[in-house]
Amino acid sequence: MEDCLLSYKTAWMVAVAVAVYYVIRWCLLQVTVGDYDRKYVFVTGCDSGFGKLLAKRLDSLGFQVFAGCLTEKGVTDLQASSSESLKAILLDVTNPEDIAKAVKLVEEIIPPDAGLWSLVNNAGVIGPLGFPDCFTRDHYEKVLAVNMYGVIDMTNAFLPLLRVAQGRIINVASVLGRISIRTCIPYNISKHAVEAYSDGLRRSLRSQNVSVHILEPGLFRTELFNFDRILKNIYKDFEAAPARTQEYYGKKCLEDFTWVVKLMGFASTQFHKVVNTHVHAITAKYPKHRYLVGYDAHCYFWPLMYLPEWISDFCLNIEFVSPAGTRKKKND
Ligand SMILES: *[C@@H]1O[C@H](CO)[C@@H](O)[C@H](O)[C@H]1NC(C)=O
Ligand SMILES: *[C@@H]1O[C@H](CO)[C@@H](O)[C@H](O)[C@H]1NC(C)=O
Repeated sequence: MEDCLLSYKTAWMVAVAVAVYYVIRWCLLQVTVGDYDRKYVFVTGCDSGFGKLLAKRLDSLGFQVFAGCLTEKGVTDLQASSSESLKAILLDVTNPEDIAKAVKLVEEIIPPDAGLWSLVNNAGVIGPLGFPDCFTRDHYEKVLAVNMYGVIDMTNAFLPLLRVAQGRIINVASVLGRISIRTCIPYNISKHAVEAYSDGLRRSLRSQNVSVHILEPGLFRTELFNFDRILKNIYKDFEAAPARTQEYYGKKCLEDFTWVVKLMGFASTQFHKVVNTHVHAITAKYPKHRYLVGYDAHCYFWPLMYLPEWISDFCLNIEFVSPAGTRKKKND
């Protein structure tokens, strides 16, 4: 009886402690840094999607924004729809000359003692979808050039300025770094790389007072998902693959990809969630190390990460693509 009473009391104390922890945590998460108009932020990939929305939002919050755009059109469109203090810059993150030029321009504009408050490595490509043996090294290199080396080169280039401001780096990865989908391997590799890089970087820069934050959005239907282009490329890569590979998969199963791509059409369009998360990482006094964004990320991918492989493989392989080679086996 005595024991029972004690454990009852202990349970209450634990519950209260947990509640207090969450209340304090919530309160701390609401504290912001202030002085936005004296803070400089660089965002890459601002032609469309999250980058563009984020650049505009930061601009309206009063930040001094540098927005890297891949295309001339991106630069003019963004500049036309934002305030004068926003500087849209032509920037291909895979081009070292472009990066050097961007650093020079930023250094000319910001006061020497201000430094750069935040670097948001948002630029990314989805890369090819399809079968692993239809991808060549070239496919991987093209995706890594933007999604991995782009992030590393930008970070190296702007780190001196980030140190001056004791600022932060925000890297966009993808729903938890461990999940790979069978049709999207090059992209998944690049995002795993971003996770590994960001974790190491965060630990390394801690004593230098530069913090590193990882955003892990679920599936969002941004301009990265150009369905026609994705489908066209699946066919193109297939036709370039060795004859035996083509024979094994069979052209018919490519039609199944139409369904995979259509399924992606159901992805969230609540872009503001991702933008709000970026804003939190930039403005909060105590930002989180990792931000998971979106219902699918929380409710589907996150649990999958911690479940045994036999469950996660089963759940992630519910697709419609069935290679001719595997069908033949079954029919024999
Ligand atoms: C792998 O790719 C899929 C499909 O694009 C995506 O939903 C998932 O978040 C990716 N995972 C990682 C770690 O990049
Ligand atoms: C980092 O910040 C702390 C606390 O503000 C300060 O004491 C320390 O000197 C800073 N370190 C560097 C390398 O600037």
